[in-house]
Amino acid sequence: MRAIVNTPGGPAPVELRDVPEPTPAPNEALVEVHGFSLNRGELRSFANNEAGWIPGQDISGVVLRAAANGLGPPNGTRVVALTDEFGWAEQVAVPVHRIVPLPDNVSFAQAATLPVAGLTALRCVRLGGALVGRRVLITGAAGGVGTIAIQIAASSGAHVTAVVGRQERAAALSGLGAHDVVVGIENATGRYSLIMESGGGNSLSEAVRRVEPNGTVVVYGNSSGETSTISFQEFRAAQNARIQSFFYFTSGPEEMFAPDLALLVSMIAEGSLRPVIGIERDWSEIATVAESLRSRQVTGKAVFRTGAS
Ligand SMILES: NC(=O)c1ccc[n+]([C@@H]2O[C@H](COP(=O)([O-])OP(=O)(O)OC[C@H]3O[C@@H](n4cnc5c(N)ncnc54)[C@H](OP(=O)(O)O)[C@@H]3O)[C@@H](O)[C@H]2O)c1
Repeated sequence: MRAIVNTPGGPAPVELRDVPEPTPAPNEALVEVHGFSLNRGELRSFANNEAGWIPGQDISGVVLRAAANGLGPPNGTRVVALTDEFGWAEQVAVPVHRIVPLPDNVSFAQAATLPVAGLTALRCVRLGGALVGRRVLITGAAGGVGTIAIQIAASSGAHVTAVVGRQERAAALSGLGAHDVVVGIENATGRYSLIMESGGGNSLSEAVRRVEPNGTVVVYGNSSGETSTISFQEFRAAQNARIQSFFYFTSGPEEMFAPDLALLVSMIAEGSLRPVIGIERDWSEIATVAESLRSRQVTGKAVFRTGAS
């Protein structure tokens, strides 16, 4: 079969190659991959993994062969799944507890936006507790996580302020439910009950200056790669606020990935969540699109079609 493999040191960070087909374990279904998405974190994993490794966490497709243990969806079921790796391939073996069936009105492209970004958005918003009438600030709002988090927070009753890096990004957020869009966190006024922070560096320092007493700054990324300066003094006006780190893969028990993914799928199906697909391409264009994502040119998610779709 064909797969996208890691080629560190080559002319592109990854390329399409022929590789052996996977051999599923008894608790794994074999899925024919139709769509997948690219996460910013995966850009880093290109550099951190050996040549020949197959990346890929967010996949959608069709069950080719149900799991031998008799559990999970039967052959022919349209599905979305969260894998740890190996997903950017014509076929991938996925544990059945990481697989969610898709209704007919959710496309492979829409579903592929959900696993990492959707679970991160959903679970970070939950860390803010009951959000009805609360103020929520989201940095990196035009990105994969941000565009989903805006919608979930707004539909939870929050007043959402979205932070983007440049003015033209603001238009892309129209209709997602943000009450304000500001260019740069420095322009966000007042204090917030929940701040979702992924810029790092000065963005995190500024976030701490904007949290309200007993509020929460969820730190789930460091897109800038920069360190931050914060001081205890800054909490005098935000007493007992907390800084909470978030890592999606340890953010809940393993068996809760599928129920939360199913919730996100149902939100798309019923129309309360609209995935923002900024770019959709054939998987042969992965290296070019990866560079666009790295340089902040992609709004929402970058999604790919394999030969099967
Ligand atoms: N902890 C976890 O489990 C977890 C899970 C998912 C993602 N993450 C991390 O969370 C962050 C957001 O993920 P994502 O998938 O939404 O990424 P994304 O789609 O690339 O969006 C990130 C957004 O952040 C903004 N940004 C601000 N400063 C930036 C900088 N210095 N470099 C690059 N972008 C910058 C960009 O928008 P503007 O250009 O408009 O500013 C960009 O659109 C990433 O750092 C990712 O690695 C962590």
